[in-house]
Parts: sequence; structure tokens; C-alpha cells
Amino acid sequence: MKTAKVSFFVVVLVVLATLAGCVQQQGAAPAAAPAAGAAAGAKTYKDMTLCYPQLGAESDWRTANTASIKETADKLGIKKLVFSDSQQKQENQISAIRACIQQSVDVIALPPVVEDGWDAVLMEAKNAKIPVIIVDRSVSADSSMYAAHIGSDMELEGKKAGQEMNKLLPNGGSIIELSGTTGSGAAVGRAKGFRETLNPNIKIIDSQTGNFTRAEGKPVMEAFLKKYQGQIQGAFIHNDDMAIGAIEAIKAAGLKPGDLKLVSVDGTRGGFQAMVDGWVQVDVECNPLLGPQVFDMALKLMNGQSIEKNVLTNETVYFPDKAAELLPTRKY
Ligand code: AHR
Repeated sequence: MKTAKVSFFVVVLVVLATLAGCVQQQGAAPAAAPAAGAAAGAKTYKDMTLCYPQLGAESDWRTANTASIKETADKLGIKKLVFSDSQQKQENQISAIRACIQQSVDVIALPPVVEDGWDAVLMEAKNAKIPVIIVDRSVSADSSMYAAHIGSDMELEGKKAGQEMNKLLPNGGSIIELSGTTGSGAAVGRAKGFRETLNPNIKIIDSQTGNFTRAEGKPVMEAFLKKYQGQIQGAFIHNDDMAIGAIEAIKAAGLKPGDLKLVSVDGTRGGFQAMVDGWVQVDVECNPLLGPQVFDMALKLMNGQSIEKNVLTNETVYFPDKAAELLPTRKY
């Protein structure tokens, strides 16, 4: 009788344990595992809403940057990417940031179209306790206003371009500059670095913006060629899209590859093709594939982990001799 009672009790226990297991299996899916090394209860990519108020779609570089952000968001399976295209207008970027603050996003990653004028909106994000990562170009706001910056050293890019122009024109000469968007960190830094390294026997006789686009690069070069007919030996062009536009103008003026020494920036497929065709003599790399670094840092910020304040991209300089070989390997 006693043995029967014990057996009944054991059976009840087993049934209860089995039922508990079933309930656990049928319930809501368990939360995604935290990233390797993260503490239990840490936030994961599945918890992340990230705001990316992209500055525009002005260049192949920008298209690659957008693709990198969207593809990385998909791959990591983040909860939501709030993406917008500000069409190269700071006021649109500011409105997009304000909308993201209203939505209480977890992190804002901002590629700023220009350097100045961010203080007020960065303060609003700070007051709302939303960390901001400055991506690609820099801002002039105090670094206490944002969490970190991930991007290129634009001044260094300009210095590399200046050093290469010195080699291309060892006896000096007159050159023009086709500059990026006025007031942008990329244009300001590249112009500064270039001037710092350029030999004194090379004179920049004019500088105009082409706003980082092919459409504007072409007429600016056309105007230069008309104004300074036969007087210029080279050009520093702040990106490959403007270089491609400028080459159309150079061809139309009846000049041949190499008549003007062209130093460009980015290292896009279009820039590589222009090197293969002999029009561009040097292409200084600027890397747009920043998605993985941005999301990695955003997750660390969500978990209160320490981050590097200034993450610089490793970049190189490309020349025509390797252009044909490297072109098929270019990712943008
Ligand atoms: O800020 C990076 C620059 O912006 C790239 O050189 C250019 O192509 C882009 O539009």
C-alpha cells in the first residue's frame, strides 16, 4: 500500500514536469542570444532601432555607404532601421533627427552634410539620452555633444593628394581645384591637407565647388577650361563623380588623357575605370563601407559598454598601373 502511494506520487511529479516543459516550449520564442561576451540580459541587435538620416545620394560613394548600412542592418537582424535621404540639405537632416528623437530610437548615426550648425539638435538628442555617432564627415560641435565619430581622416586624404600632385608636376605649374560641398568636412579637410603639402612651385589658380556630383563637375570644368585655356597642367578633384563629369568636359575640349594631371578621391569603380583609361593619374581612397563598424558601436552604446571616441578608416592610394587588375575586386 505504502509502495503504491509513493509510485503514484512519482507519476504525478513526472506528469507535472512534462507539462511544464511543454508550456515552456510553446511559449514566446526566447530572446536572441546576447552577442558573444555580452553579459546576461544585455541588449541584442533584435532590440535595436537605429536612425540613419543619410545626407543624400550625390555620388557612387554615397550609394555604397547607403547599401552598407542597409545590408548590415538586414544581416544583423536589427529591430528597425529608420533611414531617410536628406537630398544634401542640412535642414532635412535636422528634421529627420528630430523625428527620430520623437520616436525614441536607440541610437542616431549621422553623416553630416556640413560641419557647422549641429549644436542645437545634438543637444536635443543628448537631453533625450539618445547617443549620436557621427559617421563619415566631421562636425565642428564640441566632441562632448556626441558619442563618437567613425569615418575618414579627410585632411590626410588631402595631404596624400598633395604629395602625389607634387610627384606628377615636379617642375611646378598651375592647377585648379574642383571642390566638394562647401562647408562639408570632406571638402574642408581635403582642401586644407592638400594646401599643406603642395610644393610652392605649384599654384592653385582657381577653386570652385562641384557639390560632389557628376552633373555639377562637368560645367565647372568646362568653365575652367574656357577661362584658363592652355594655362593649367592639373586638377585636384575632391571625388570620383566630379572627376568623371570633368573628364567629359576635358574630352569635349579636345584634350587627351594625361594632358592634365588629375588627382581624385574615393577609389570607386568609376574612378578605377578612369585610371584604366588614362584620364586619372592618382585616386586617393575614401572608404564608404562603414555599416559593420556603425552597428557594432551602436550595440555597445546601448549596453553602456566603452567605445573608442574617434574611429578612423584605414585607407590607401591607387595608381593606374594596378587599376585594371584591381577593378574587378572593387566593392563600390
Ligand atoms: O564624405 C565623403 C565624400 O562624400 C566622398 O568623397 C564623396 O564621394 C561623397 O559624396
